[in-house]
Amino acid sequence: MGVEHGPSAQRVWDRDAAHEEAWGASQIGPFDYVPRLGFREYWYPVAWKKEVGPKRPRYVRVLGDDVVLFRGANGQVAALTDWCPHRNARLSLGISEFPGTITCPYHGYTFDGTGQCVAGLIDSPTSPVIGKMRAKAYPTAEHQGIVYVWMGDTDPVPLEQDLPGELLDSRNRRYVRVKDWETNWTEPIAQGVDFHEGYLHRMQFSPRPMFPKEPLWARSLMNFYRAFNKNLGFFRPKLAYYGGVEIVDEAETYFVTKAKAPVFGQGFHPGVNAKWPDKVWWRKLPMSKRRTGISSNNATSAKATSLLTGKPFDHSVELPSKIRSVVMAESVHLRWMVPATADRTRVWTYTICRTPRTILGRLWQDAWYYTWRKPSIVVATNEQEDLATFMADRLRFDLPQKLGPLDAGLIYFRRHLARRSRDFQRLGGAKGTDKGLPTRTGEQRRRMAAQGQAAEQPIASG
Ligand code: FES
Ligand SMILES: [Fe+2]
Repeated sequence: MGVEHGPSAQRVWDRDAAHEEAWGASQIGPFDYVPRLGFREYWYPVAWKKEVGPKRPRYVRVLGDDVVLFRGANGQVAALTDWCPHRNARLSLGISEFPGTITCPYHGYTFDGTGQCVAGLIDSPTSPVIGKMRAKAYPTAEHQGIVYVWMGDTDPVPLEQDLPGELLDSRNRRYVRVKDWETNWTEPIAQGVDFHEGYLHRMQFSPRPMFPKEPLWARSLMNFYRAFNKNLGFFRPKLAYYGGVEIVDEAETYFVTKAKAPVFGQGFHPGVNAKWPDKVWWRKLPMSKRRTGISSNNATSAKATSLLTGKPFDHSVELPSKIRSVVMAESVHLRWMVPATADRTRVWTYTICRTPRTILGRLWQDAWYYTWRKPSIVVATNEQEDLATFMADRLRFDLPQKLGPLDAGLIYFRRHLARRSRDFQRLGGAKGTDKGLPTRTGEQRRRMAAQGQAAEQPIASG
């Protein structure tokens, strides 16, 4: 009889394996086990409910699928494929002629929220295709004004299972920003755990642009916010190097990373016979007590704990496509990537905070978000500075990559977390991967489950 390997034994193994691989120059590819267009057996945020009018549908592209959203039964938002099953015109160019339905702009066939054809306006009131023609429907759910769509082949799980846990805590409130980035969804995931902050977001005053065509206003805005950082990070020692990255916490759906051996001040690099950074003479203030020295300038606070678990944490990735980084103790900076095409991603940035008890407290928090957090982190850092990679033609996915000690988290994501995804658990693999294609369909899984067979795929170790 073999040794039983429960999930926890597997995770210990995953962590060690990722570390070992990182220190040996890994060549795991971005899409070996991670699908180009996202894991499908999950809920994803797709639109604000208020954007879907009673008459006007809304078009969204999700995981490569063209989807139309409209008001279905009881005003709930329904989602169908955008391609009319009659002769494939775009339903999103039509209108809701009747409550709870959408009518195709071409010949007027009309569909309800389940995708069933319920009328053939210019065909005939007794058209034989009524009740027979059907458009693919996607399960939908709503939470706090946001519409979520289930993209999977198998039966949906309750929405709560896929929502960031902080959103389910009634003590919290959130700010949301939605923005399209021109990159594959895995890149904003990777940068959640690749510790590029130490270089790309170094927060220096620099007359040079950090990337081609960087607008001057973006640099000025960043410089302004950084100079008046409340920890006055500009005058304190900065990170010189991380000393690698390690995985410090693992669970079934996420893992957490942290800098392994960060050093502040300067590092001497024999290969170039020089210290870097070269000048630090003005960084004379003592290290901030709130700092653990993890990130770069305004590093994660020592007191920063997850609003979700209460445990301290740094950079993490959660399935299917969320990253978290605590920039300050009072809030969670969470980004949920929704792949649109292979090189465009709709990024939902949730800034989640404890709700202050008083109105004044809430106003203060609004001021903090709109005048500080949003412009300095969400826009200047994540959207402007990251344009070094988040624009068409600035990053290649088709050339080989060599991952090293900074990439332990990325390796973990690509090799281990990917294979704990629901796509692998339920279908034996994920569509759009190079090495882990599905071995069954949703229909086969349902049949196996009905026959009482174990439909969940054991995780291969290797
Ligand atoms: S294509 Fe939609 S009704 Fe004909
Ligand atoms: Fe970044």
